Amino acid sequence: DGDVYKYYVDGEWKKSSSGKSVPIVNPTTRKTQYRVQACSQEEVNKVMDLAKSAQKLWAKTPLWKRAELLHKAAAILKEHKAPIAECLVKEIAKPAKDAVTEVVRSGDLVSYCAEEGVRILGEGKFLVSDSFPGNERTKYCLTSKIPLGVILAIPPFNYPVNLAVSKIAPALIAGNSIVLKPPTQGAVSALHMVHCFHLAGFPRGLINCVTGKGSEIGDFLTMHPGVNCISFTGGDTGIGISKKAGMIPLQMELGGKDACIVLEDADLDLVAANIIKGGFSYSGQRCTAVKVVLVMESVADALVEKVKAKVAKLTVGAPEDDCDITPVVSESSANYIEGLVLDAKEKGATFCQEYKREGNLIWPLLLDNVRPDMRIAWEEPFGPVLPVIRINSVEEGIHHCNASNFGLQGCVFTKDVNKAIMISDAMETGTVQINSAPARGPDHFPFQGIKDSGIGSQGITNSINMMTKVKTTVINLP
Ligand code: G3P
Repeated sequence: DGDVYKYYVDGEWKKSSSGKSVPIVNPTTRKTQYRVQACSQEEVNKVMDLAKSAQKLWAKTPLWKRAELLHKAAAILKEHKAPIAECLVKEIAKPAKDAVTEVVRSGDLVSYCAEEGVRILGEGKFLVSDSFPGNERTKYCLTSKIPLGVILAIPPFNYPVNLAVSKIAPALIAGNSIVLKPPTQGAVSALHMVHCFHLAGFPRGLINCVTGKGSEIGDFLTMHPGVNCISFTGGDTGIGISKKAGMIPLQMELGGKDACIVLEDADLDLVAANIIKGGFSYSGQRCTAVKVVLVMESVADALVEKVKAKVAKLTVGAPEDDCDITPVVSESSANYIEGLVLDAKEKGATFCQEYKREGNLIWPLLLDNVRPDMRIAWEEPFGPVLPVIRINSVEEGIHHCNASNFGLQGCVFTKDVNKAIMISDAMETGTVQINSAPARGPDHFPFQGIKDSGIGSQGITNSINMMTKVKTTVINLP
């Protein structure tokens, strides 16, 4: 069936024997754009077996050869940036230029992983026993890092390529194999990305990509005994996964409610520019988006005016036209965002623009005078709607930030570096940005959330380390 994209197993593209497919609805047209295979549980079992055998051989492949293949895949990925970006535009309504950036950034990430991998996996430790009380120098301990096995990679819809390779590349350089389950919206972009790895010539069975319904293969995959590690990015399904998964390492990045704390001495033009970039890029559909502004009352009017002026300049429309604000990923997402907006309206928030929606397209909206009794003060809209809470002290801002269940990133704007550091130390988030909006990149920086925002730390180096285990050999001298 030429209309349904095949899934990838054992180095081949296959149709599912289920005979079923999953539609991918274009967020802009709201019509079915693509179809992917609805893989069955038996097919998942087969994939797991193949991934296990391929991994055993791959772990014995010299590190430099693994790196060489990754560099090749990175180059092929960059060569194919245009067709992959086009899929991103159609599947997830990512603005055209950002879609290209996602693919290029992914190629760079894969290359960096190869380089970092040969460095950090190319060295181990040597310990001697007589540093511990009671021991003679009769034991030599050699340590190295060995792969975990099969890594289950589950990226989210907002970066189906980049957040897939941020799991795939560290896993592969460290000697693991991959079972990728892409998000439904974004699955075709991910399949194209996998094709680049296929063209690079990786061994059969090492990289596999199964598509299908979460209800059919979701739990089956995450609870599968063949999985040795799960790297997941997405919403609160991650909490469910962490409860059901076996005794395996988990790397999780879930949501965020990243706060932007603005002090009285802040450069308000800089803040406004960062609120626009941080709050409205990809229509707010980023875990690291600015999701609440906490501004000192004395500068709030001035800041809101500046942000309002910039919001008025945002272009709204189709991702093909590279508009700033594009339709959100699904109708249910748009409905959820609308629910938060209506709740804020009912409870008396100030609307800086008129609320406007057509289909999945929601016009950018700044809500001033938001109070803690409004849902939007705490919940993640994952859309182009940003609440402003006016505060009377820095402590009030820190308190709001820390009262959240999330703890991904946050940012603080002030010219006083001492205050900035003090606030950073007080904020219970994985990262605090001083004088810039939250962001994951550059991709080699550590990236982690606390509380409901995640488990473990990502970023290239941390991911490579996380996908390995320390192995020691002790030489006992007579
Ligand atoms: O939403 C996913 C998260 O990883 C954000 O990445 O690059 O937009 O900060 P970024």
